[in-house]
Amino acid sequence: MVHVLFVCLGNICRSPMAEAIFRKMVAEENLSDYIHIDSAGTGSWHIGASPHEGTRGILDEKDISYEGQKARQVHVNDWDTFDYIIAMDDQNMKDLNKVRQADNHTVVKKLLDFIPHPEETNVPDPYFTGDFNYTYELVSKGCKHLLQYIKEQHYLN
Ligand code: 4NP
Repeated sequence: MVHVLFVCLGNICRSPMAEAIFRKMVAEENLSDYIHIDSAGTGSWHIGASPHEGTRGILDEKDISYEGQKARQVHVNDWDTFDYIIAMDDQNMKDLNKVRQADNHTVVKKLLDFIPHPEETNVPDPYFTGDFNYTYELVSKGCKHLLQYIKEQHYLN
């Protein structure tokens, strides 16, 4: 089993979007029994909240389920559980590194780093930009490349 955690600041816009998109992609490749997916925020403001209405709106439009998803904060135990901790931007990376546990197995990387020639290196935060469509396009592209990478690394092809 490969464990993947998507991380953003609030866990209501970008990382729940990535979680939902990635779960659908994984299901479409019949890999749900092999890849476990979750998301969390570095901040604590929205613990227990459902995804933001903008995230829900675009996921509804694309027919992608986010059922049962509730915001939670990153926890030190996540370094024991997850093989991949996937951040949305540089600030998330900084915040994750502050609580990072001595560990030599968890890969901590930004989502868009998996795209060969990305147009952006950070996923813009639609909580501030209001542009959920652009964030969706980038997150989808990142998830596609991330899945390809994981399949290759773990012989899931
Ligand atoms: P997210 O967006 O990190 O993509 O979930 C944010 C959501 C809420 C806040 C900041 C970013 N906030 O400051 O409450």
